[in-house]
Amino acid sequence: MNTTHSHIASAGLLVAPGKIEIREFDLPEPGHDEILLAVEGCGICGTDIHEYQRDPFGLIPVVLGHEGTGTIVALGRNVTRDTQGEPLQVGDQVVTSVLVPPDCPFTADFPERSNLSDALGVYGLIPDSADRHLNGYFATHLVIREGSTVFKVTGMSLKQRVLIEPMAVTVHALERAKTTGLLNFDSTVVVQGCGPIGLMMVASLFAFGIEKIIAIDGVPKRLEAARRMGASSTIDITAADADARIAAVRAQTKGRGADFAFQCTGSPEAAAAVWKYVRRGGGLCEVGFFMDNGECTINPHEDLCKKEITAVGSWVYTPGEYPMAIAMIRHPVRIGIPIESLVTHVFRLADINLAMETNIAMEGLKIAIVPELPVS
Ligand SMILES: NC(=O)c1ccc[n+]([C@@H]2O[C@H](COP(=O)([O-])OP(=O)(O)OC[C@H]3O[C@@H](n4cnc5c(N)ncnc54)[C@H](O)[C@@H]3O)[C@@H](O)[C@H]2O)c1
Repeated sequence: MNTTHSHIASAGLLVAPGKIEIREFDLPEPGHDEILLAVEGCGICGTDIHEYQRDPFGLIPVVLGHEGTGTIVALGRNVTRDTQGEPLQVGDQVVTSVLVPPDCPFTADFPERSNLSDALGVYGLIPDSADRHLNGYFATHLVIREGSTVFKVTGMSLKQRVLIEPMAVTVHALERAKTTGLLNFDSTVVVQGCGPIGLMMVASLFAFGIEKIIAIDGVPKRLEAARRMGASSTIDITAADADARIAAVRAQTKGRGADFAFQCTGSPEAAAAVWKYVRRGGGLCEVGFFMDNGECTINPHEDLCKKEITAVGSWVYTPGEYPMAIAMIRHPVRIGIPIESLVTHVFRLADINLAMETNIAMEGLKIAIVPELPVS
């Protein structure tokens, strides 16, 4: 299939929970401020799965997919450079970051915190409408609109490029953690949850120079992956009850608890447990609750007041953190961390429902959709 020279684009349109249909759309000419991209690949994120299963954001009909990358096939006449000022031309490979409306009052007041604006947009989470198609990366083509943030990444492998967006999530979490002043090169850090986000967190921490990383999960293959990403030890929650897990962390930290912890699961039980792993005066970063998965209970005396834990939340990322995410993909590769191995499965666009079900079954780690195979 090569649609770049045809006038038709194909897209996986979520038409009902659990049902994506491949639809065809006329390939538009990009407007003066737009870019037409031939999609090369896109990872499936947990948010895509939530949307696929329940549509919690009410986006149906929607073409999902925001961890994407592609090649420019046509440029509007006003588009000459990417967000960092790099010249752009047809054939360049790019990724997109969040869309921040130019007239956003929140961003005007808090320019460094544009990630917290309610007006923040993301390709792949924009509903399809009669006058606006090709808004997500689970398609052969994407139209990049005026005002988008775009980064040239020509020369990176496709697997590296589909990992840039989730790496941006971990980079933002790291930046949030750094604001506490509690994350140092000799820190002992717990990473709770070894899905793609937790594993990229492990790789980022290791690349950052932190060597004492305790990874916690209940899936042996994910714990093995954590070791490959740089974890110095692992705790299997299926082999240790709550007290034994805390004891295992303390045994590695002079009986105190970890200096810092990243909570990278969507589990309320885990969100409560993470406080127990941190030492008095330590810190934690809540990354995992991107969706409202319910409440959790902490003991304000034991967990917060007595320990003086400094906790930060982490929400998406800012466009300015994208170049750091790109560097954070390149750097682990240079120091021998097999970050590309996190992409364990690749499915054709036509098999997208199967890809979603494979993800739901927790087979593999990062699953990517590509319009065309093979993938290098
Ligand atoms: N903050 C953000 O901006 C942001 C962005 C993207 C994703 N997320 C969230 O980050 C979380 C992780 O994403 P992912 O793609 O890696 O998800 P994932 O579901 O693939 O991974 C979660 C992992 O947590 C493990 N887990 C579950 N309960 C646990 C427990 N009690 N202790 C230890 N491990 C446990 C699971 O076995 C799994 O391996 C998701 O909840 C996702 O919604 C947040």
